[in-house]
Amino acid sequence: MPTLVIPELRTERLLLRAWRDEDQEAFAEMGADHEAMRFYPSVMKRNESAARVRGYQIEWATQGLGKWAVEVPGVAPFVGSVGLARVSFNASFAPAIEIGWRIARPFWGNGYAPEAARAALDYAFWPLDLHQVVAYSPLGNARSIRVMKKLRMRYAGDFDHPQVSALHLRKHVLYVISREHVAGREPGPEFAPFIKKETMRVVQVDSMPDFPFSED
Ligand SMILES: CC(C)(COP(=O)(O)OP(=O)(O)OC[C@H]1O[C@@H](n2cnc3c(N)ncnc32)[C@H](O)[C@@H]1OP(=O)(O)O)[C@@H](O)C(=O)NCCC(=O)NCCS
Repeated sequence: MPTLVIPELRTERLLLRAWRDEDQEAFAEMGADHEAMRFYPSVMKRNESAARVRGYQIEWATQGLGKWAVEVPGVAPFVGSVGLARVSFNASFAPAIEIGWRIARPFWGNGYAPEAARAALDYAFWPLDLHQVVAYSPLGNARSIRVMKKLRMRYAGDFDHPQVSALHLRKHVLYVISREHVAGREPGPEFAPFIKKETMRVVQVDSMPDFPFSED
């Protein structure tokens, strides 16, 4: 397997960093929280959470993108996971890269998800040179949809998630953001070490369709 490269990104309040063994406990606790997992098919058992973290690390190593562990220095060593992934199912908008977020419940409402996601999007648009990133969530997940709107992502329609069997969770909203939508913002100096990194593997998503956006 190629060398594991998980870049470290800093924002005003957050550190997006590589996974550590100590994160396993807090990540598993978050996955066992019924309220935090309300819009997922089920809560996660401890071994499933451990496998998920291994999966994130493998994605970083093989695809050059993945989920970061999010730390709030001086506040908490681990508050959640935010980052990028390849859309892993057949959809009209695939191939595509999605952005996703999960924050532990005690830390909700602090704006951590959008702040971390902004850094992840900058990473997608500059070092990875992607031109679009999608996000999706079940229709009822108002918190997650609010994060998409705060990121100035644009509504691009609904779809039935083919991997979700629970009927009440199947219908999803799709949001999209293009690099042009963040035009005028330049990558901060924290991205300089990554931008010319030739070892970084980039997932090509050139055939991603353009979306007819609508205001909602
Ligand atoms: C979605 C999630 C990541 C948001 O993280 P966060 O760091 O708390 O995000 P924010 O602090 O920006 O708060 C969410 C926003 O939703 C708003 N919100 C909360 N409940 C809401 C509701 N019922 N309806 C509409 N908006 C709501 C909040 O007011 C806040 O917006 P504001 O800052 O404009 O007031 C977090 O709630 C979470 O981890 N949920 C469980 C996991 C999950 O569902 N992930 C997404 C899977 S698709």
